[in-house]
Amino acid sequence: MEAFRFHVFVCGQQKPEGVPCCAGRGSAEVLEALRREIGARGLADEVQVTTCGSLGLCEHGPNLVVYPEGVWYSGVTPAHVPEIVHSHFEQATPVERLVRNDAAALRAEILQNRDKMLAARRAREAAGVLPDELTELLRGFQESRALLTALELDLFTAVGDGADAQQVATILHSHPRATEMLLNALASLRLLVKREGVFYNSPATARYLVSGSPDNAQPALLHTAHLWHRWSTLTDCVLAGTAVADDRNAEIAARGQDWTEAFIAAMHRNASERAPLVVRAVGAENVGRMLDVGGGSGAYSIAFAQANSALQAEILDLAAVQPIALRHIREAGVADRVKVRAGDLRSDGLGEGFDLVFISAICHMLSPAENLDLLRRSREALAPGGRIVIQDFILEPDKTAPRFAALFALNMLVGTREGSSYSEPEYAAWLGEAGFRDVRRVRLPGITGLMIGSRPL
Ligand SMILES: C[S@@+](CC[C@H](N)C(=O)[O-])C[C@H]1O[C@@H](n2cnc3c(N)ncnc32)[C@H](O)[C@@H]1O
Ligand code: FES
Repeated sequence: MEAFRFHVFVCGQQKPEGVPCCAGRGSAEVLEALRREIGARGLADEVQVTTCGSLGLCEHGPNLVVYPEGVWYSGVTPAHVPEIVHSHFEQATPVERLVRNDAAALRAEILQNRDKMLAARRAREAAGVLPDELTELLRGFQESRALLTALELDLFTAVGDGADAQQVATILHSHPRATEMLLNALASLRLLVKREGVFYNSPATARYLVSGSPDNAQPALLHTAHLWHRWSTLTDCVLAGTAVADDRNAEIAARGQDWTEAFIAAMHRNASERAPLVVRAVGAENVGRMLDVGGGSGAYSIAFAQANSALQAEILDLAAVQPIALRHIREAGVADRVKVRAGDLRSDGLGEGFDLVFISAICHMLSPAENLDLLRRSREALAPGGRIVIQDFILEPDKTAPRFAALFALNMLVGTREGSSYSEPEYAAWLGEAGFRDVRRVRLPGITGLMIGSRPL
């Protein structure tokens, strides 16, 4: 039984450069056009669209196959899509001129391609050629670096509604030859489109990386550009066992205002996205006073305060971050209930009588001993029955998953003296030792999780 009237499989296979494949021939654009057209004609619940690996007709892509009839289309372009959707999905009449009708020839071509592919794979294995996945991992930094340089130069803003290399170089005060090379590389990554020597932003870069766009993330993403420099010291850090950059012991303020702005902007963007999820999971109803340790931009305190109009929040953060938090708090209109205290979470008193101590994205920058100490002081800061909520990238017990948390441990290695990602058993042990009860983990969708405990009554 078919769950949908039609099920379309669109080949999205990407093969090594120079090898014919649907991705290289524009299957992503066909897929986008298909989804748009099906949605526009109100067929989204009737026609299911799925991407798939090679259908075996690689020289003639982009290919797609429509079930239940098993109709194969080859050489489809976005311009063909409205006709296919109208004729095939609305009128139940396939577009004959694009359909592969000779079943025997179709089968022979698919089998021949499969045999060629298997023979090539065996030959590569026999010759000891590096597997593609390994090569891609090794070279991955090139793509990342090209994009980070574009962010640092604010290149996507310079491209604007379309510009050639010379115009972009003039705006950026950069070298024309080098600028053209970077623009071409970005076009190869589909971050730009090049037509007749003029570069245009892709829908994604226009939305997220151009100044003036409501969703522009460029300032927050500059933090990743800063991280790149740290990551290039990784080998020395592994040898030394700690961060080796000159400013590793420096407080945030000493890294400069640009660094701090980009860092807190990055935190704010993530925190604003996750705050509703966290507030729902924790519950704001029974919280009269909360302490937000290292609260950064204030995004979580603001969300808790907005969820409960009687809630008072106190953010403890470094003096350099205080004005940034105050700006966000004022913009959110909760300045009467969300306060910011400048201080050092490693050594300063945390206060007392709180119903909730919230510690988000802090434990990973501390050593195990510092975490235990912070959790002990948090217990003292809570009223009896009050809760501690830790949000962080929580590793599974063997510390190899999730991947983001395992890699983030290296991010802490290159950026801090003793920070790391920690596992659920480590958090549970510290919380137990610090005197918390009812310790539990709450899994959230996405990359962070919560550890929650209560101060006994
Ligand atoms: C990764 S950010 C997390 C911000 C926020 N809690 C969140 O989840 O979005 C770490 C925060 O800790 C603050 N911080 C770092 N060292 C600190 C210290 N010694 N005392 C107080 N705050 C500190 C930073 O300024 C920053 O706001
Ligand atoms: S790559 Fe699409 S059919 Fe082979």
